[in-house]
Amino acid sequence: MDWDKLGFQVIPTDFMYIMKSNEEGTFSNGDLVPFGTVQIEPHSTVLNYGQGLFEGMKAYRRADGEVQIFRPEQNAMRMQMGAERLLMVAPSVEQYVDAVKQVVHANKRWVPPHGKGALYIRPLLFGSGSVMGIAPAPHCTFLIYTNPISNAYKGRHTNSTLSLLIEDTLPRAFPGGTGGVKNIGNYAPVFQVTKEAKAKGFFDVLFLDAEEHKYIEEVSSCNVFMVKGDVISTSPTLGTILPGITRNSIIQLARDLGYQAEERKFSVDEFLEADEVFCTGTAVGISAVGSATYKNTRVEFKTGADTVTQKLFDMITGIHTGLLEDNNGWMVKID
Ligand code: COI
Repeated sequence: MDWDKLGFQVIPTDFMYIMKSNEEGTFSNGDLVPFGTVQIEPHSTVLNYGQGLFEGMKAYRRADGEVQIFRPEQNAMRMQMGAERLLMVAPSVEQYVDAVKQVVHANKRWVPPHGKGALYIRPLLFGSGSVMGIAPAPHCTFLIYTNPISNAYKGRHTNSTLSLLIEDTLPRAFPGGTGGVKNIGNYAPVFQVTKEAKAKGFFDVLFLDAEEHKYIEEVSSCNVFMVKGDVISTSPTLGTILPGITRNSIIQLARDLGYQAEERKFSVDEFLEADEVFCTGTAVGISAVGSATYKNTRVEFKTGADTVTQKLFDMITGIHTGLLEDNNGWMVKID
């Protein structure tokens, strides 16, 4: 493996984890199996009605060689929340965390060396049982695969900052929809606009609210923050914003560093006056935004070493990789 060439491409690892719900409609035992294809019934609800969720997590290698994961119970709880919304049975927090530990342990050789990236962990939960009418599946499958990655945005830019296109017509999510859970159906609908934005040279699309097309919501695959003086703001999770675990951690770390961190609605006009902007997510980590373009007007934000974004990046990356003390007890070691 040439770890220096790592990007965000498909790299199959040795094992995956699979657990099917039983006759009683609960999860009991799962297995580690060699990585490979899965069989799925044509009538399954995931194929027909999109009854499915996914999670994204990372395993990091510390300088001492040990491997650790970040706040896995938070992903487990978010999956439970999504399962409730899509009427699926979800693994317990304990089952989820245990399965993640097993699959990371089995694929340990794929965790990149310290500082070269991470082993991305993709837990899926989907309706695998068959029905003909519009109804939830009689049984569900929980599956986890892993894939080494560097940063989702690496390889698509050279100056390490992102240029975002603010989409003023098509929203990503709408009130009453599923934007607030990690529903698989939230992602394909943004393919078209992001493809068009990339063709114009942008790295990604930032979406506005569905009702007034005025308030900042999130990027296609990550949350967004703005910095103005000592105040760091991000949109509230009121059903259309994914409650990101990196987002939540950054709010806490920003407060620990003495900044005022707030969750509130803010308009695109206010956003364009920010000093700094950054995105957060498991795949993207903390990524500085260099510019945003709204209705053909491009606005630049401060980036570089002397920024709040850099401070927060250093702090969370240090915690992830074991360079900084984990005062919050967020990291879980893999034996
Ligand atoms: C993650 O950050 O892990 C996500 O789930 C976003 C994904 C669409 C790359």
